[in-house]
Amino acid sequence: MRFDGAIAVVTGAGSGIGKAAAVRLAKEGARVILAGRTLSRLEGTAGEINNLCRREAAYFFQTDVTKESSVQELARYVEGNFGDLHVLVNNAGGSAQTRILETPEKVWDDVQAVNLKSVFLVSKELGKIMAAGVKKEILDKRNRSIVNIASLSGHQAGAHIPHNSSTKAAVINFTKSLALECLHSG
Ligand SMILES: NC(=O)c1ccc[n+]([C@@H]2O[C@H](COP(=O)([O-])OP(=O)(O)OC[C@H]3O[C@@H](n4cnc5c(N)ncnc54)[C@H](OP(=O)(O)O)[C@@H]3O)[C@@H](O)[C@H]2O)c1
Repeated sequence: MRFDGAIAVVTGAGSGIGKAAAVRLAKEGARVILAGRTLSRLEGTAGEINNLCRREAAYFFQTDVTKESSVQELARYVEGNFGDLHVLVNNAGGSAQTRILETPEKVWDDVQAVNLKSVFLVSKELGKIMAAGVKKEILDKRNRSIVNIASLSGHQAGAHIPHNSSTKAAVINFTKSLALECLHSG
């Protein structure tokens, strides 16, 4: 199995793409920590995964990825209970449908926060655990990855989703910056 022994965090894992990614990682051998705001969704997904894998493969931690303090709590939970991290999927996100001329400031700010700021905050806090893990490995180096879920609209702007298109384009560029900075951390 490709992720045997790996520890993974998936944000927004209570539904949709995040849930599918968490299921797949667990089926491939990883222990997966599901992060999101709605406990009932996380609990449901964890139950489904554990039944499917017939082992304790999924854990969950209530997190608002737009809040630094909440993300720091998630990092403390991961470090305290698992001691390392190999895969991070920054999936949590959201959008709205509005025309630029009618977009309220709060709608703009909310989409920026959940799609872009969250990727920065979670990569920063959980990236520290990954970087520390690399330093602890002497001979047997494991593969580690941060996967940021962007969107086609980050490449090609869509009408009425200016907030989504702009954040996803920024996520694509942020991912390149992250890759350059982490190049030598393994
Ligand atoms: N579906 C598509 O067609 C599509 C296309 C391109 C890109 N994407 C991207 O793929 C990702 C997942 O999309 P999806 O369609 O699977 O959406 P979804 O089913 O609405 O899932 C989004 C998840 O993010 C979580 N979330 C939202 N705000 C959060 C916050 N502040 N803190 C923590 N978790 C939060 C939600 O859970 P809670 O509300 O419980 O927190 C939810 O589980 C997004 O980044 C989206 O932009 C989707």
